[in-house]
Amino acid sequence: MTNQAVLVFLLFFSLAGLVSCGQETAQPPESPMMSTERPGATTVSEPIPLPSTGHGNFENLVADYENNDRSIWQQPDLVISFLGDLEGKTVADIGAGSGYFTFRLVPKASRVIGIDIDPRCIEFMDSVKVRLPEKYRDRFESRLAKPEDPLLKPGEANAVIIVNTYGYLEKRVEYLTTLKKGMSPEGQLLIIDFKKNNLPVGPAEEFKVALPVVEKELTQAGFEVTKLDTKTLDYQYIVLAKAGSKQ
Ligand SMILES: C[S@@+](CC[C@H](N)C(=O)[O-])C[C@H]1O[C@@H](n2cnc3c(N)ncnc32)[C@H](O)[C@@H]1O
Repeated sequence: MTNQAVLVFLLFFSLAGLVSCGQETAQPPESPMMSTERPGATTVSEPIPLPSTGHGNFENLVADYENNDRSIWQQPDLVISFLGDLEGKTVADIGAGSGYFTFRLVPKASRVIGIDIDPRCIEFMDSVKVRLPEKYRDRFESRLAKPEDPLLKPGEANAVIIVNTYGYLEKRVEYLTTLKKGMSPEGQLLIIDFKKNNLPVGPAEEFKVALPVVEKELTQAGFEVTKLDTKTLDYQYIVLAKAGSKQ
């Protein structure tokens, strides 16, 4: 069994709780892809090499994203709750990676699009999808996007999350402007990223974007910033913005 198959197996094992419970309201489990943080090791820190065509140690990246310690500082369910009730909604997770947030969104929304530019992430998420209970499987779709375009159809997403990915986007104002076209009027955008401090987790400083810069870029792209939160999470800020009705 390859390392990736082991990781998928472990994630499936964790998601199996959804199968056996068979309840719509079942909470997504904590990921079992544990790796104890090593001294000096980074967590959710190593940028996937771009362009990503099979280089780099993907298994290590997935283990990093799915690190069990992460749920303590990431508080995924609390973070997702910033989007309110997602029933009946389509949510896009841009820079989905291993699907850490994507698969936690699946039980809560009607449709979840896991978007990434790395084909390995798409392949990984698809390998998780086939093991989901059928009722959840149909809600999930992966999408290989372009670095400059998430490839959403006009008005397709009612909500979008971008977690630990904003700093990897190039020409962000242009990117956000394109993204906005893929969102429904009044659609919500949730951006979560690392604070610019010397933190025990997170990427190198060069991949961090200061909160006032995020706020300015969102405004330039025509979003209305509705919430800026630096208190809920120790290491990350949370930004909520509204697409607005003008395209
Ligand atoms: C640090 S990972 C974060 C993964 C996931 N959001 C999480 O929090 O676990 C960043 C991800 O963004 C993806 N990415 C980088 N640039 C992107 C872009 N322009 N569009 C979509 N995804 C991108 C990378 O391939 C990678 O999977």
